[in-house]
Amino acid sequence: MKNLKDYIKEASDKGVAIGHFNISNIEALHGIYNAAKKLNVPVIIGVSEGEEEFIGIEEVAVLIKEIREKDNYPIFLNADHHYSFESVKKALEAGYNAAIIDAVKLPLEENIALTKKCVEYALELGKKEGRGILIEAELGFIGQSSKLLESIPDGVSVATMTKPEDAKYFVEQTGINLLAPSVGNVHGMVKGGNPRLDIERIKQIKEACNVPLVLHGGSGIADVDFTAAIKAGINIIHINTEIRVAYKEALQKFLSENPNEVAPYKFLKGGVDAIEAVVYNRLKLFNNL
Ligand code: 13P
Repeated sequence: MKNLKDYIKEASDKGVAIGHFNISNIEALHGIYNAAKKLNVPVIIGVSEGEEEFIGIEEVAVLIKEIREKDNYPIFLNADHHYSFESVKKALEAGYNAAIIDAVKLPLEENIALTKKCVEYALELGKKEGRGILIEAELGFIGQSSKLLESIPDGVSVATMTKPEDAKYFVEQTGINLLAPSVGNVHGMVKGGNPRLDIERIKQIKEACNVPLVLHGGSGIADVDFTAAIKAGINIIHINTEIRVAYKEALQKFLSENPNEVAPYKFLKGGVDAIEAVVYNRLKLFNNL
């Protein structure tokens, strides 16, 4: 089967983006996979350090690999926002297909050194195990939490957006496979609406560094902005908060209407369906279907 790098190239050639959705339990995986299968499109499952701790680092790796191989389906696993070399290493050794080393809070040269170390390790491990492993890094701050926000996260501003020349330097110095820039996107959903994306900046970053670009903080972004961002060079889009909200609201509704229900497969079912609906609509848009 083709690897994640091949699918990213294919998406780029077709002018579409691959959807990346976070999970912390198996119900969310069912909802996401059901939606992807209905549309027959590749999909990436993401787990942050916190999500991974809850679902189990080995367990999630085995699950995704098993589904990919048994169903011969392009479903891949990404270590989303891992903050240390050790946590990236652990995820890759468990069999993840990709990892994001998030060192944006470090001074630039320390960020570069840590990112480079992860890239070199991924190359070495990939060679040893005969598989392609991708390393992504973020440049420019976009906030940190997938949650409902009263306002734009502290520390995010036009000044913290990624500059094309910085992106070029960072990609050249680190050798990363994927870059996540700050282009008006924020993690989480802002009450009253998320900011608009800076499409021109995406174009300039793409031109400057010519690597696949990943748009984080997809929840709450307007459909027209997604379409324009993909056209400008975005290849992967991350969604988390929208899934969390849909899952929680479905559970809350079911349990308030059925307070005596104790069978998890009954009271969780609505949550799975709610996630599927969110992911289905996002994948349809991202894949131009
Ligand atoms: P949202 O929670 O804003 O969708 O962001 C998700 C994300 O970027 C995970 O890496």
